[in-house]
Amino acid sequence: MNELEQLTALCAKLGAEAGPAATMAAQLQKRASQFAAERGVTREEAMRYLLEVMVKGRQGEPWQEAGASRPPPSMREKLLSRFNATFGRSPTVITRAPGRIEFIGNHTDYNGGPVLGAAIDRGVWVGVAPRDDGDRRFGSEQYSQIVVVAASELEKQNGAADWVNYPLGVLAALPEFALRAPEGLDFMVISDLPTGAGLSSSAALELASALAFLEMTNQHPDRETVVKIGRHAENHFVGVPCGILDQGVSGFGKTDHLVHVDGRGPTFSTVPMPAGANLWIFNTHTKHALVDGLYAARHRECMEAAAGLGVSALVDASEETLAANESKLSPIAARRARHIIGEIARVRATVEALQAGDLPRVGGLLTASHRSSQSLFENSTRELDFLVDQLAATSGVYGARVTGGGFGGAVMAFTSPEFGETQAAVVSKSYHEKYGAAPDVLRTQLGDGAEVI
Ligand code: GLA
Repeated sequence: MNELEQLTALCAKLGAEAGPAATMAAQLQKRASQFAAERGVTREEAMRYLLEVMVKGRQGEPWQEAGASRPPPSMREKLLSRFNATFGRSPTVITRAPGRIEFIGNHTDYNGGPVLGAAIDRGVWVGVAPRDDGDRRFGSEQYSQIVVVAASELEKQNGAADWVNYPLGVLAALPEFALRAPEGLDFMVISDLPTGAGLSSSAALELASALAFLEMTNQHPDRETVVKIGRHAENHFVGVPCGILDQGVSGFGKTDHLVHVDGRGPTFSTVPMPAGANLWIFNTHTKHALVDGLYAARHRECMEAAAGLGVSALVDASEETLAANESKLSPIAARRARHIIGEIARVRATVEALQAGDLPRVGGLLTASHRSSQSLFENSTRELDFLVDQLAATSGVYGARVTGGGFGGAVMAFTSPEFGETQAAVVSKSYHEKYGAAPDVLRTQLGDGAEVI
C-alpha cells in the first residue's frame, strides 16, 4: 500500500466513511508538507505529529504535549486538525472567546448593579464551515460523538449532547435580534479552559459561536449586540437566569485591563489593572449537584427582596431603605439584599482603589466580598472558605474570594509578586491534606475579548 492508501485505511478505521476517508488522507498529506515547512521539522515527523493529534482527538483524549523536540501545537492548529479529522475539510471561519474571572461583584449584575471582571488568556476556539444539505453537525474535542441537528429543528438537547445547547441557543437567538441564522454547517469546538472552574466556558462558547455564525453569514452587528445574543441564549434556551457579566467580559476583555459592567444599561468599559498585581485561580473541582437551581433560587430571592423594598432592582435600594423596611422582608430576603447592597458599594470602592493604585485596599475589599457571600448570600462552600482562609493568611496575598456563581468552583487570589509557585504549593498542600485532593492552580494573564481569527 502506498502512503495515501495507508492513510485512507487509518481514517476509515477511525470511523470515517470511504469518500471522506480518502479526502481526509489527501488533506493529511498536504498538511504534513505545510507543517514540516512551517515548523522546520521533517515531513515524517510532521506526519507522525498530525496522526497523533488526529488519533487522540478521535479517542476523545485531552491533548498531551508529546515530546520536547516537537513544538506544542497552537490552539489554531489543534482546531484545524480536529476539524479536518472530523469533517474531512477545513473550517471557513475560526473564532476565539476567552473565559473570565469575576473580580468583584458577586450576583450584582442581575440586580442592576456594577461588577468587575477580567477576560483571561485562555478560552474556547470554534471553527465552522457551511453545508448545503441543511444539517448542523456539532463536534467537540471533549466528546467523540458528533451531534446532528436539522436546520429546521431547534430542540433542546439532553444528556451527553447538552453542550450543543449553547451554539443552538445562539442560533435560536439570532432572529430575535433581527439577524439571520446560518442553515447547514459543520461546527467544531476546542478549549484550553478548565471546565467547572467558574471561568465561564459556557459564555465563551456562546460568544465564539455567535461571532462564527455572524461572520459566516457576513453580518456584523456591534459588540453589545453580540454579548446580548450570548446572554439571550443562556437565559432563554439553556434556561439559566444569569446576568450579563460572563458574556460582557468575554466580549469586551482587554489585555491588562479589567472590564467594568454596569448591569443597569448594561454598559461596558475597562479599568487598567495596576502593574505588580497578579491573579491566581484555585479550582476545587467541587460543584453542588443543584447548582443551576440554587442560582435560580438566589435570583428569585433578590427579586422578592427588591419587590419588598418597593424598588424595581436592588441597585436602587440603600442601607437606609433596607433598615427602614426590613420587617417587610423574610429573613432570607433581607440577608440577600444586605449582601447585594454592600457588594455594590464594594465594587464602586474597588474601582476607586484601582485607580489610586491602592492594591492592599483592593485586596481588603475582595476578601470582604467573600465574607459577605459566605454569611449573607450563602453561596460559598466549606472548601472555598478554607482556601480563602489559607490564602488570606499567606504573605503576598492582597485578598481572595469565590469567583462566579458559587456553590463550589473556584477561588481567586489577588497577589503581589511575592506570592509565587512555592506559596501556591503550600496552600494546595494544606487543602489536599484536608480534603484529599489538590486544587488545580492556574496563574492567569488578562487577555483580549472575543474575536474572529
Ligand atoms: C454567574 C452568572 C453571572 C453572575 C455570576 C455571579 O457567573 O453567569 O451573570 O451572576 O454568576 O456574580
